Amino acid sequence: MLKISDLVKKFVGEKTASVAAVNGISFEVEEGRFFTLLGPSGCGKTTTLRCIAGLERHDEGTIFIGAQVVSSPRDRIFVAPHQRDIGMVFQSYAIWPHMTVFENVAFPLRVGKKHFDARQVKDKVMRALSVVQLDALADRPAPKLSGGQQQRLALARALVGEPKVLLLDEPLSNLDAKLREQMRVELRELQRQLGLTTIYVTHDQSEALAMSNVIAVMNDGKIMQMGHPRDIYLTPANQFVADFIGSTNFIHGTARAGAVETEHGVLQCTVPAGIRAGDAVLVSARPESIIVHLEKPANTQNLFEGQVQLAIFLGEMYDCQIQVGGQLMRARLNPAHRVRRGDNVFLQLPAEYITVLPANG
Ligand SMILES: Nc1ncnc2c1ncn2[C@@H]1O[C@H](COP(=O)(O)OP(=O)(O)O)[C@@H](O)[C@H]1O
Ligand SMILES: [Mg+2]
Repeated sequence: MLKISDLVKKFVGEKTASVAAVNGISFEVEEGRFFTLLGPSGCGKTTTLRCIAGLERHDEGTIFIGAQVVSSPRDRIFVAPHQRDIGMVFQSYAIWPHMTVFENVAFPLRVGKKHFDARQVKDKVMRALSVVQLDALADRPAPKLSGGQQQRLALARALVGEPKVLLLDEPLSNLDAKLREQMRVELRELQRQLGLTTIYVTHDQSEALAMSNVIAVMNDGKIMQMGHPRDIYLTPANQFVADFIGSTNFIHGTARAGAVETEHGVLQCTVPAGIRAGDAVLVSARPESIIVHLEKPANTQNLFEGQVQLAIFLGEMYDCQIQVGGQLMRARLNPAHRVRRGDNVFLQLPAEYITVLPANG
């Protein structure tokens, strides 16, 4: 439905040389799927979205919507934004304060390329409003809506033209935490019901994990890894992804056949193809995959001894910082146990839950 290939967008600085905000990214989104661009601030997410919308002219690459090429500088093709059949919601979703809810949603129909008579406008607007459950508030001045309602209004305005593709740029970031979690579910449900092909931009990893069919993790204008949320979380491809998504412990080591030698001892694990014995590696072990033993267990595979530095009781678990040699490791402990600062414990890192990554890669 949507295909981006080798997209490059440079901005020319006032004094500096031009910098590539987007530096050669490619991806494809199937019809009806929810695709997320996830990455830290400044990594090029908004620029990518604006290129797709036609609000920026990119320097290289091709953008397809359906079978149509909507921009390709090499072929001198550039379809204007309002002819691209997309709906967009920005971070600052800019509802028009001097208009009613109804007029806000009607606006794109009144200025769009197609002409609709009053009857058609009314039908379309009321349908879009009922989708986001604001139909009862159609005549209310837009500023008299709550934050969550304004967000839904922005969505209705993006949906009213029945776009092929919906582009959402951090649409929930202005909402408070509770509403954000609620809107996450509502928005996803709506997207599913309408079968809308959606590109969602966020810097919030839990939002991305919760909502997406596919996540592309971006850094510095490039895609670092692309995949299902589960795969991104469980098998990060590199240090950046392992670090950016969730929290993890990194342990330096040297690869051996089926193992990694570390300063704390040897870890039996799967060493991925491409890493050879003798290579410097980084082992990533997530806190929730580490087993904390209060007594030395019979099975001593991948077992490190350490000392509790901090154990914070969080109800569903203890969040522990454990000193292992020269390193503080984070792990979780079932709250049925009791631990105190200074206790000796044993950390076990099950081979199937640790990821071996190339060092500095
Ligand atoms: N209009 C612009 N002129 C110059 N530099 C820009 C412009 N827009 C974005 N940039 C730069 O491009 C990079 C990517 O920005 P952006 O796409 O907004 O990132 P994100 O949305 O991931 O936070 C940043 O370094 C930003 O400063
Ligand atoms: Mg942005």
